[in-house]
Amino acid sequence: MSTAEGPDPELDPPLGPELGDGTRLAHAGDEPVVPGTPLRPSPVFAAPYHLGDQPPGTDGADAYARPDNPTLRVFERAVGELDGGDCLSFATGMAAISSAVLALVRPGDRVVLPSDGYYASRVLGREELERFGVRVELVPTLEIGDVAARGDLAGARLVMLETPSNPQLDVCDIAAVARATQAAGAVLVVDNTTATPIGQRPLALGADVVVAADTKALTGHSDVLLGHVSTARTERGRELHARVAAWRKTTGNPPGPFEAWLAHRSMGTLDLRLARQAQNAAALAELLSAHPAVTGVRWPGRPQDPSYALASRQMLRQNGVLSAVLADAEAVRTLVRRSRFFVAATSFGGVHSSVDRRAQWGGDAVAEGFVRFSCGIEDTADLVADLTRALDRLG
Ligand SMILES: Cc1ncc(COP(=O)(O)O)c(C=O)c1O
Repeated sequence: MSTAEGPDPELDPPLGPELGDGTRLAHAGDEPVVPGTPLRPSPVFAAPYHLGDQPPGTDGADAYARPDNPTLRVFERAVGELDGGDCLSFATGMAAISSAVLALVRPGDRVVLPSDGYYASRVLGREELERFGVRVELVPTLEIGDVAARGDLAGARLVMLETPSNPQLDVCDIAAVARATQAAGAVLVVDNTTATPIGQRPLALGADVVVAADTKALTGHSDVLLGHVSTARTERGRELHARVAAWRKTTGNPPGPFEAWLAHRSMGTLDLRLARQAQNAAALAELLSAHPAVTGVRWPGRPQDPSYALASRQMLRQNGVLSAVLADAEAVRTLVRRSRFFVAATSFGGVHSSVDRRAQWGGDAVAEGFVRFSCGIEDTADLVADLTRALDRLG
C-alpha cells in the first residue's frame, strides 16, 4: 500500500502486465493512501487555481486547468499504466487522432493512413492535412505489411494503422510495420480503439504512439465522448509526448474534468464487460455464419476468420465487435425492427447491443447490407434467442 510517506517497494511495484486485467483496471490510476481523503477521487472542476509567490509553472502547482489539472492526471495515469506509455487525454477520439497527427507533421511530409479504417481519419487526411501541404497516402490494412516489407515506407514521416480496422475488422502485423517505420525514421501511430488497452498493447509491439476513441469500449456506457494519445516510454516517445502536450495546450482540446472522472470510473469494469461482450460475439458469429440470409461474417476471434491467426498472436483478448453482410438495406431494417435488443446506433463497445448499417453514412466502401454488430453485456442466451427470431424473419 502506498502512503503519503511514499511507496512500499514490496507492495507497490507498478501495475504491470503480470497482474490480471481485472486487478489492473480496478486499481489503474490509484493514488497514495492518505487517511481522511476520499477512497476514490472526485472531479476537480476549477478553471483557475490560487497562485502562489513563485512565477506560475515553476513550483509544480496548478495554475489553470487547460494545460493540465488533477482530474486529467488521475485518468491519464490510469490509461498510461494500461497502455504502458505516457497518456494525454482529449475531448473526443478524433481530437486525439488529429492532435497526434497535426502535432507531428509539417508541410511536404508524407503521411500514410489506413484506407479502410474509421472514415473520419481519412477525411482528416484528405480534407485537412492536404490543405496544409501534407502528402497523404491511403493504404488498406491488409496491404500495409507488404508496403512495409518492400521498403516503400522510406520517406514517410508518419504511418497510422488501425487494427482491427473499423468496420471490416482486418488485422495487420504491428511489430512488422514498427520495424519498417523505425528503419524509415517514421513515427508509427496505432489506433487501438477496437482492441482497447487490455486487448492489445501496440507500444510493447514497437509503435511510438497509441491513439484511441475512449468513447467506445474503454468507457463502455455510451454516455461520454473521450479520446487519448499514449506515447512510448523511449527518448523519442518523450519528445513526441512534449509535442502533443504543447499542441493540446495551444489548441485547447482536453476533455472536461467530469468526462475524465466518469471515464476513470467506467473503465474499472472493462475486464468484466469485455469478457461478456466477447462471449456474446463468439455466439453471434456462429449463429450468423450458419444462417442462409447472412454472408461475410467477420470476427477476429473465430478460427475460420481470415484475421484469426495474426489476431491470436498479436492480440491479448477479443471484444464484442463483429460484422456481416445481409441482402440489402431493407433486410437490415427488418432485422432491427424484429430485434428487441439490437437497436440501431452508430457506435460500439457499450453495455447495450447495437447494430449499424455502415453504408448509410457514405464513408466506407461496403455493401448496402453490411452491418457492424456491437455486442453488449446482455446474457448470451437472450441475445442468441433474440437474433435467431429476427434473422428468421429474413427468410
Ligand atoms: C476506430 C475509431 N477511431 C476513432 C473514432 C473517433 O472517435 P470519436 O467519435 O470519439 O471522435 C472512432 C469512432 O467511431 C473509431 O471507431
